[in-house]
Amino acid sequence: VRHQIDAAGGSVTIDMAARSIVSDRLSLEQILGNLVDNAVKYAEPDRPLALAIRSRPVARRRIEIEVEDNGRGIAPEDHARIFELFRRSGPQDIKGDGIGLAHVRSLARRLGGEITVQSQLGKGSTFRLRLPIDLRDFVGVAGER
Ligand SMILES: Nc1ncnc2c1ncn2[C@@H]1O[C@H](COP(=O)(O)OP(=O)(O)OP(=O)(O)O)[C@@H](O)[C@H]1O
Ligand SMILES: [Mg+2]
Repeated sequence: VRHQIDAAGGSVTIDMAARSIVSDRLSLEQILGNLVDNAVKYAEPDRPLALAIRSRPVARRRIEIEVEDNGRGIAPEDHARIFELFRRSGPQDIKGDGIGLAHVRSLARRLGGEITVQSQLGKGSTFRLRLPIDLRDFVGVAGER
């Protein structure tokens, strides 16, 4: 979507401090695709989108991937709710089914990770995904249970 964002006067910054992960490619593509899709969809119409994507190693052999936007943001009371199926937030002026983030959360969990959000209404949102650096670590642990 870089082309689409550039064409609308926005920007995309990518900072991959952690460059490799052993995981499930299709699941990761779906997670990041949904987050980026939302960042574009819920941009403030009067403010060019600034999208930043970062990855960095964190404790316990994990990687944190952040998708940050300066879009319309999410009201505090909805921060947990948006990960539930069919739940949406704010004005219903944009088409959506409320499925994307529920899917993201279940995919993240299946990869041994978790997803959280930090957001200020009217200012922007940061979605933070934490995943095992190597899915085999997680599968190993799950297999022993
Ligand atoms: N980056 C974001 N900025 C502001 N609001 C967001 C953002 N991402 C999600 N939301 C809010 O969370 C709600 C749930 O998002 P989710 O992706 O699950 O559903 P959706 O985008 O409405 O529909 P779809 O199923 O097509 O993805 C959205 O309706 C929107 O209100
Ligand atoms: Mg969505």
